[in-house]
Amino acid sequence: MVAIELFRPGDELDSHKDDLWNVLQLTDRDFVPKLSAREPTTLGELKPSKVVFQLPIEHLDFLLQLHVFIAISEGKAVGFLSFLPGFRHEVVPSLTSCVLIDTVAVIPSFRRKGIARDLYRALFASPLFQSYDDAVLHTWSTNATHGVLIEELGFEKIRIIENERAPGIHTEIWTRPTKPNPFEDD
Ligand SMILES: CC(C)(COP(=O)(O)OP(=O)(O)OC[C@H]1O[C@@H](n2cnc3c(N)ncnc32)[C@H](O)[C@@H]1OP(=O)(O)O)[C@@H](O)C(=O)NCCC(=O)NCCS
Repeated sequence: MVAIELFRPGDELDSHKDDLWNVLQLTDRDFVPKLSAREPTTLGELKPSKVVFQLPIEHLDFLLQLHVFIAISEGKAVGFLSFLPGFRHEVVPSLTSCVLIDTVAVIPSFRRKGIARDLYRALFASPLFQSYDDAVLHTWSTNATHGVLIEELGFEKIRIIENERAPGIHTEIWTRPTKPNPFEDD
């Protein structure tokens, strides 16, 4: 049984710093580029704090400023989805009332059990998320695994920034209105 719980930035989320760190350590290398060696990408430059990823701890510090759904199995964090409400997207300025979906990660031994889908389900059910008009996320062009899921949820790819992640690996910007909730018939 996996429970999904929302933690707000501040004391609530700080008390789960170790949980986030454990998931980050087990998933770091699955990201392109890996989170612990991330140079500023378009998204990095867009982040209001102007965070530049150089060490894994910097990504953790950035996560602690966000709202985070954590998936917990038998007291252990096995995945999370972080998001930033009230994000102003500089590359896509039409997104004025927007939520940035920042990082989605599930540890390898718990993958393909529907946890990422459940994290998105919790996000779409959240009144805070629903109080904004649009969601936006950035991913990389070779991430077919995540791509299948977000496409199924109704996200559309609206921009490609070529070779930003690595030679031949592009940043993709995907958006979707927050409504209707793609899980409402579940
Ligand atoms: C992407 C990721 C979050 C998916 O987590 P997950 O809990 O395994 O995903 P789910 O079990 O909820 O899968 C949901 C759907 O995604 C697709 N999917 C997930 N893993 C897949 C795989 N290995 N191959 C093909 N499709 C896959 C499927 O459509 C799946 O639905 P199905 O199982 O009913 O066919 C996880 O693989 C991960 O942490 N990857 C590394 C980090 C990353 O890529 N994050 C996303 C970018 S921020």
